[in-house]
Order: sequence, then C-alpha cells, then structure tokens
Amino acid sequence: MEKMPKVLILSGSPHENGTTARALNEVKASLESDGVEVELIRVGHITVSGCKGCYACGKLKKCVIDDIVNELAEKLREADGIVIGSPVYYASPNGAFLALLDRLFYSSRFDKSMKVGASVVCARRGGCTASFDVLNKYFAISGMPIASSTYWNQVHGSGAEDAECDAEGLQTMRMLGKNMAFLIKSIALGKEAFGAPEREKKIYTNFIRRD
Ligand SMILES: Cc1cc2nc3c(=O)[nH]c(=O)nc-3n(C[C@H](O)[C@H](O)[C@H](O)COP(=O)(O)O)c2cc1C
Repeated sequence: MEKMPKVLILSGSPHENGTTARALNEVKASLESDGVEVELIRVGHITVSGCKGCYACGKLKKCVIDDIVNELAEKLREADGIVIGSPVYYASPNGAFLALLDRLFYSSRFDKSMKVGASVVCARRGGCTASFDVLNKYFAISGMPIASSTYWNQVHGSGAEDAECDAEGLQTMRMLGKNMAFLIKSIALGKEAFGAPEREKKIYTNFIRRD
C-alpha cells in the first residue's frame, strides 16, 4: 500500500473520558502501532436531529441538514475504515448517535464498499450484543467488510476506571485494531492484484405488489 491507511473512529458517548473513550483509545493505539493513521472524534455530546426522510440527499449527494454529518461524510470518504463505538442505553446504542449514523450512512452517496467497518459497545452490565448487531448493520448494507476480534467487541464498566479492569475487553480492542489494520492492508493488495469486485446495477424492489 503506497499511502498510509486511514481510519476514522467515532465515539457515540457524551463522556470525553468514559468507558467508550477508554475502549476506543485501545483500538486507536493498536491501529497506530500497525502503521494506520487514526482520527478519533467524539460526537456523542452533540445533539443532531434525526433523518427527516426527505430524500433530498438523492439529488444533493449530501444531507439537506448541513451540520457535522456532512463534515463527517467527507472524512469517511477519505478513510479506508471506520470504527463506531457507543455506550449501551437500554440495550441499544445511544439514540443520539444512531440519529447521526442514520443520516451519515444514508446521505453520503459515495461507494463505501471495501472500506472496513468495526463496532465497539460499552455497558455496565447488559445489552452489548444487541447493540453490537445494530451498529454492524450500517456496514453490512454498504458492502463493507466487518473487522472482528477474539470476542464480540465489548468493554464493561460504568466509567474508564472500571474499563481499565476489564482485561479481556481491552485485549479484544487491541486484537480488533490488529485485525482491522491487516484487513485494510490486505484489501489494498487485493485491489491491486485482482481489482475491486464487479458491481451490478442496483435492483430496488419493495415487498408490496399492486399488479
Ligand atoms: C440512559 C442510560 C441507559 C443505560 N442503559 C444501560 C443498559 O441497558 N445496560 C447497561 O449495562 N448499562 C446501561 N447504562 C450504563 C452505561 O452503558 C455505562 O455506564 C457505560 O459505561 C457508559 O459509557 P460511557 O462512559 O462511554 O458514556 C445506561 C446508561 C444510561 C445513561
């Protein structure tokens, strides 16, 4: 790979130094030690409105609500991978973060396929795997390979001090960074050797038939 690979990390926690920050910093350090440039941005403290369902992005190729979402879209365009991390709220990711992700993934109309995605979830006790599923779905619909680790990507605690004691969780974060770096570099080599996978024109059907 000629240029240094880039990963964008988004923290969906309102807390600058909470559990999610601790977990994501472990992934960041691991990616960096494997030669990946990382930008970590906290967005969980920012109130963004949810998708209005206006479909204007189909024409504009960006969100009609011109806020941080469009700035993040440009960063995602340039990145080879993205990590999205969230605290668990009622067995789901932070709702404000989901509002941002809905708009980011729906309104940014550039091809995201073969950018690597990874999710991280943090909870005091329960709801991690349900939240993990929700976050991974942004990647699975976008043709994005999902980086995994030695366990589901979760760190437990009520704050950074607890997270520090979750040795297995932090190891999972380190391995996630290593696996993600490897995947990104392998995909770059694969594109050089074989080219990107051929794309078909999108077929778009509804379940409802009126004929
Ligand atoms: C509104 C709200 C709902 C929460 N729901 C859950 C939950 O369903 N399961 C759980 O284990 N912890 C729950 N928690 C605790 C947080 O997930 C936990 O403290 C987490 O470490 C916070 O991450 P942060 O420090 O990065 O913000 C909840 C916290 C809040 C504020």
